[in-house]
Amino acid sequence: MKLKITLLLTIALLSVVNAEPTGETLVKNKCSACHVMTRPQDMSKLVAPPMMGVMRHVKMTYPNKAQAVAFIKDYVLNPSREKAICMPQKIERFGLMPSQKGNVTPKELEDIASWLYDNFPPEGFKGMGRGMYRMMHQNN
Ligand code: HEC
Repeated sequence: MKLKITLLLTIALLSVVNAEPTGETLVKNKCSACHVMTRPQDMSKLVAPPMMGVMRHVKMTYPNKAQAVAFIKDYVLNPSREKAICMPQKIERFGLMPSQKGNVTPKELEDIASWLYDNFPPEGFKGMGRGMYRMMHQNN
């Protein structure tokens, strides 16, 4: 009897733990500390390219969802200069993205990448415009 209760409690607990956060929540928790999710007001405070710019570049290189998701999943765990599809100036300005190994699981990344592909960049977004361009060139 005791064992049965313990078992039931364990199952109940596990299902709470397994109540999966959505892709959106995961992006907010795991990515937005560095990649701002809105159009930034002050470019000088950024520590990484804004998410809308990142996703615009990802989709320019990988328009197909499966490929875009595969790229994001790989890059977040194993970033490298060779794989990067963003403007090289971004890496000069911010440094290479630190690997998120240990912060995010491959399963979470699947949801994150899929949600990002479906929601970013927001409709009508055509790049950061002069603000980003100036920021990229101010140190040269
Ligand atoms: C500690 C800060 C930090 C966190 C957290 C972070 N990133 Fe980044 N990320 C960066 C920086 C800096 C760059 C720009 C340099 C580069 O491309 O490597 C970048 C670049 C990228 C790129 C563009 C890669 C390219 O082609 O250059 C993608 C895609 C990306 N991040 C996805 C994510 C996702 C998804 C998450 C959340 C799971 C995340 N990042 C979390 C800092 C971060």
